[in-house]
Amino acid sequence: MPPHSDGVGAALQIDGSAVCLKAMFRLPVPDDLHLHLRQGPHLANYARDTAAQFGRALVMPNTRPPISGPAALREYRRQIVTACSAYAFEPLMSFKLAPDHDAQAVHALADAGAVAAKYYPRGATTNSEDGIEDLRTLYPAIEALQERDVILCLHGEDPSAFCLSRETAFLPRLEELVNRFPRLRIVLEHVSTADAVRVVRTLPQTVGATITAHHLVLTLDDLIGDLLNPHHFCKPVVKTPDDRNALREAATSGDRRFFFGSDSAPHRRADKECACGCAGVYTAPVAIAVLAGVFELDCPGAGDAEQPLWVRRLRAFLCENGAAFYRLPPARGELVLAPEEWLVPAAYHDVVPLMAAKRLRWRASRV
Ligand code: DOR
Ligand code: ZN
Repeated sequence: MPPHSDGVGAALQIDGSAVCLKAMFRLPVPDDLHLHLRQGPHLANYARDTAAQFGRALVMPNTRPPISGPAALREYRRQIVTACSAYAFEPLMSFKLAPDHDAQAVHALADAGAVAAKYYPRGATTNSEDGIEDLRTLYPAIEALQERDVILCLHGEDPSAFCLSRETAFLPRLEELVNRFPRLRIVLEHVSTADAVRVVRTLPQTVGATITAHHLVLTLDDLIGDLLNPHHFCKPVVKTPDDRNALREAATSGDRRFFFGSDSAPHRRADKECACGCAGVYTAPVAIAVLAGVFELDCPGAGDAEQPLWVRRLRAFLCENGAAFYRLPPARGELVLAPEEWLVPAAYHDVVPLMAAKRLRWRASRV
């Protein structure tokens, strides 16, 4: 049965011996405002997994070598667009802030079409050995970001702190930035703690925060509570049930400051299942289905005649809040969310995804 155009459509689903009516929903095609696509032979596969579900994505620059100059940024965008030519997909480009970036470098990157600059503290995560030691040394570059209205995306961890306290230890730096650059739009990426949610809520509307699908469903128990599961290892590390609950409350609240950034970060199986496993969870093919399950569970309210509350809140988180923060034009195209159980593959292109070999209750497809 085709989905109803106002988003209420219904589909018959067999549930055990009973036949029940379950709704199918239409949403604008969503945006992923934090994505890793890597370089080289695997880029095309990863990019297509995302383009099959999302219309736009903010592509992270922590490749090797990094995307830190205008020529690299233009070339990386060209490669992504070429890989995704079968889809209406727009990569939004970011660049990696380098210790030697000054105002002139920022202007050149803005002229090349960068919509965001990414700050990685040195040693905080994958490919950040060349990151920034002291954010204050970059204030002239940050001044230029503010002038050009380029968004500053923060990997908000202080790598010198204990691993579970790194995000909380970074939060005073965020407050300093907001005070010093009142017109600069800032995104605190992949928030992982109740502390971060609380602080973001106290800050002006120039500050937003992305939340991943994996931080909404995993805690430290899923990483090390039983046998070690390296496929749940990411930075920032997943934390306590209270932290996860605070993230879920923020994501499902409709608060416009919180929006989806998958931080989908593919590492091949051998680079995860080894003595020094890489940080990153691959979620591109499953994230929307996982989010649908979370929102359905956490937002049981009735909503209005058009859509249940959980679908409206999911739409805000996935399709509206981030696009509004980034001032993007309306999405072109739609996504259908169908109540169709499916088995997540054990691997995509030799990368083990979140929920590998598990069943999900919702299936998302672009139409
Ligand atoms: O888990 C992560 N993986 N966190 C990051 O900040 C980077 C990412 C990656 O590039 O693998
Ligand atoms: Zn990331």
